[in-house]
Order: sequence, then structure tokens, then C-alpha cells
Amino acid sequence: MSEFQQMNRKDEHLLHALNQYQSESHPDFQETRFVHQSFSSVPFEEVSLETKLLDLKLSCPFFINAMTGGSAKTKEVNQRLAILAHETGLALASGSMSIATKDASTIDSFKILRQEAPDNLIFANLGAHHTLENAKRVVDMIEADALQIHINTPQELIMPEGDRDFSNWLQNIEQIVAHLAVPVIVKEVGFGMSRETIQQLHSIGVQVVDVAGNGGTNFATIENARRTRISYHELGDWGQSTIVSLVEANSIPKVNRPEIIASGGVKSPLDMVKCLAMGAKAVGLSGTILQLVHQEDSLPSAIRIVKEWQEQLQTMMCLLDCQNITDLQQTDLVLSANVQNWCHARQIDWKHYANRSKNKLK
Ligand SMILES: Cc1cc2nc3c(=O)[nH]c(=O)nc-3n(C[C@H](O)[C@H](O)[C@H](O)COP(=O)(O)O)c2cc1C
Repeated sequence: MSEFQQMNRKDEHLLHALNQYQSESHPDFQETRFVHQSFSSVPFEEVSLETKLLDLKLSCPFFINAMTGGSAKTKEVNQRLAILAHETGLALASGSMSIATKDASTIDSFKILRQEAPDNLIFANLGAHHTLENAKRVVDMIEADALQIHINTPQELIMPEGDRDFSNWLQNIEQIVAHLAVPVIVKEVGFGMSRETIQQLHSIGVQVVDVAGNGGTNFATIENARRTRISYHELGDWGQSTIVSLVEANSIPKVNRPEIIASGGVKSPLDMVKCLAMGAKAVGLSGTILQLVHQEDSLPSAIRIVKEWQEQLQTMMCLLDCQNITDLQQTDLVLSANVQNWCHARQIDWKHYANRSKNKLK
């Protein structure tokens, strides 16, 4: 595929993601309900939003997930994302840096992230077909604190110019995990994960996984819109929602489970708090953040909104009697009928989510 094609693709992805965005949360998020308890022992001021991914400390549990870079237009978007991160303390991920390994003229569209956010946690991003050498190169380019490797077979197969052979992915990931100096996060791109996938990743040494479920940016629909022949419209609902991916992840015994990041369709602080309560150590947002920064003059309002989300998270944690992110795992959550059905079919216990706070009261 030509580099020009790749550059255009990044611009097209941006446009389709913006146009297809829906502000309403996926029903699996909406219909997951906290059990309200009337007493809270945690003052608002004492609520801490800090979290950790392995040894990486995040001052805020949500971050800007992988999107873009590689063209003039996406450099501008990356600049705004990095300023937003700098002003609000968020960690942020680069979009795929594949093009930067082939075309040096695109490198500055990624380097801008580190220039504008010198002290933030930054994740580089590559596809799973890349070699260890490329992984090292992209991490160096932006002095990344971690590398995200995306896995996206539905997207590649629906993408007219996409890859058709994925047989080396697990081996590549294993190599990179074993030899890269920074942590590796393996992520989906909005199709979610099963417990089998997460177990496969764990078995090759992956310590952090981002389940990136469906319900938000939809790369089956985006790539389908870019096709001129054979429609894959019917794959528009492919994959597991973020909440389903989390119950899948939690069904793996803790000792065999990587640390989990939740993303995919996260639209609000309430969605975030539900992900954290379901065991995620951090929450990623792409499409929702893109909405905030896509216009040239949008930064002041984007910064204000992200700061509001941080305060809203703190409020909800106070309401839930939680001083820190880990405490959220002792709240009671009733899962939606849809998720209960899924759990039933997959032999996953869903009732324990609704009865966790009794351990706290003992
Ligand atoms: C415009 C756009 C470009 C994206 N490009 C990448 C990418 O290069 N690498 C990647 O891992 N994920 C990429 N993603 C996927 C996101 O990181 C995320 O997994 C997916 O959008 C689902 O999250 P969301 O619903 O919050 O958008 C992109 C998302 C958007 C919106």
C-alpha cells in the first residue's frame, strides 16, 4: 500500500469517526446499575483519582486513547490532544505510528505529542504485524512510556486495502513483550475481547490488556463506508461490548489475568465509573475526546469539560463511598438482562457483582 494511501486513510478515519459519533451510551452501559446506598463515610475532598498500570502512575483514571497522526491535518489534532493532556494531567496514546517507520516526513506529526506534553505519560502505538525493531523505533521517536499494540482483524478484513494474513501476530507480540524496555499494552480497536483472547495474551507474557469493546467508534462501519465493492454492512454489530468484555476478563482467575484497561464507547463519567467498578484499572476514550477537540478553536472548552469530568468522577466516588479506584470494586452492580444472558451462555457468575459490598460491611 502506498504511503499516500495511508495518509489519506488517517484523514478518512477521522472524518468517518466524527460523522458516525453517537452521544448516547451503549445499552450495556446504561442498563448496568449501581445499588444506591444511603451512607458514605468518604468526604469528597479525600477521594483520590490516582491509579496504576504496572509501575506507571496515572493521576487520573481516564486517558486519551489511540487515534491519529501521519498527515498534516492529524498533526494539528495531535497537537490539540497533547495540549489537552498537558492541561488536565491525562495520559495519552498516539495513533498508529506504522507510517512513521516508512516515511520520515510524518514523524513530526507524532513527535508533537511529546513536545506539547513533555511530562505526561505517553503511549506509542503500532499494529501487531510489526517487528521488535520497529517497536523500539517508535517508542524512541516520542520517548514513550509504554507501547500499545493494536489487534484489529475485523477492521483489516473489511478495509479494502487491509491485511489478509494474521498468522504471525501472536509470535510478534511475544517477541516485543519479551525484549522491549517499556511495558506493552495490547488493545482491540472497538470489537472487545473474550476470555480466550485475554488468556492467550497472558500466556505469551502480556501484562496489560485494553479490551476496547464495541458501542463506540465502529471500525467495521467505518471501513465499510470506504469500500466500493461487496458490502460488509452486516458486520456492523460485530464483537463484544465493553461491559461484556469486562465480565469475560473477570471470569479468568486473578493469577492468570493481565491488568485490564476498559475502553470502547465510553461517553461519560458514569460510564467510566462503571468500568472501574468492573475491575478496569484505567479507562480509555477516543471518539468522545475527538468530539471535544476536532474544531480549531475547541481547546478551551475541551479543557473545561475534562476538568468537569474529573470532578464528576470524584463526586460519584463520594456517592459510592469509595476513597480510591480499588474501592470501587466493592460496590454493588446489577448487570443488564443482555449481559446476564451472555454470562449465562458463557457460564459466568453475574450475581456476585450485585453482592460485593457485604464483604466491606463485615
Ligand atoms: C479517528 C480514530 C482513529 C483511530 N486510530 C487508531 C490507531 O491508529 N490505533 C489504535 O490502536 N486504535 C485506533 N483507534 C481506535 C481507538 O483507540 C479505540 O480503540 C476505538 O475507537 C474505540 O474507542 P471509542 O469508542 O472511545 O472511540 C482510532 C479511533 C479513532 C476514533
